[in-house]
Amino acid sequence: MDDTKLEPGSDFRIQTATWRDLINLHKLEKACFERDAWPIWDILGVLTFSNIIRLKAEIGQEMVGFIGVDLRISQAHAWIVTFGVLPAYQRQGIGTTLLETCEKKIYLPKIKLSVRRSNTPALALYKNFGYQEVEVWPNYYQGKEDALVLEKTRVPGV
Ligand SMILES: CC(C)(COP(=O)(O)OP(=O)(O)OC[C@H]1O[C@@H](n2cnc3c(N)ncnc32)[C@H](O)[C@@H]1OP(=O)(O)O)[C@@H](O)C(=O)NCCC(=O)NCCS
Repeated sequence: MDDTKLEPGSDFRIQTATWRDLINLHKLEKACFERDAWPIWDILGVLTFSNIIRLKAEIGQEMVGFIGVDLRISQAHAWIVTFGVLPAYQRQGIGTTLLETCEKKIYLPKIKLSVRRSNTPALALYKNFGYQEVEVWPNYYQGKEDALVLEKTRVPGV
C-alpha cells in the first residue's frame, strides 16, 4: 500500500453513498477489515435498505472512507454497523469527519456499536467522541476475540 498523504487542496468530501458504490465499498471493506469484511449481500443492504445513514468520503472518484448507521427506531438507538477509512488515508482526520457528520444526522437518543477489544485506533477515536463501554460479548468475532459494546447518550439539541 502506498504511503499516501493528503496534499493541501486535495481535500476529501463527504457525500451520501448509493447502490452505485457497491464495488468501491466492497473493496474498502476488504482493505479495512480483512477477516471481518462483509459479504457483498450485506454491503448491498447497507447501501439500499431504508433507515440507514450511509456516508462516504471521496477524493476525486476514489472512495476513501465509509460509515453506515442503522436507525433502530423501535429500540430508540442508532447502531454504527460499519465504519472504515482506507489504510493509506488513515490518521488524517477522515474518520473524525465521517463520524461527526453522521452523528449530526442521527436524531435518536443513543448511538451504539461493537468493536474488537484489540482495536486500539477505533477505541481511541470513540473515546474522543464520548462513547463508553457498556457490555462485553465474549468470543464474538472470528478468532474468538471479545466484542466491546460502546454507547453514547446524545444531549438533545447538540
Ligand atoms: C477507526 C478508523 C475508521 C479511524 O479513521 P481515521 O481516519 O484514521 O481517524 P482520524 O484520522 O480521524 O483519527 C481520529 C483519532 O482516532 C485515534 N486514532 C486513529 N488512528 C489511530 C492509531 N493508528 N493509533 C492510535 N489512535 C488512533 C486518535 O485518537 C485520532 O486522533 P489524533 O490523530 O488526533 O490522535 C480507521 O482506523 C479504520 O478504518 N480502521 C480499520 C477499520 C475499523 O477498525 N473500523 C472501526 C470498526 S468498529
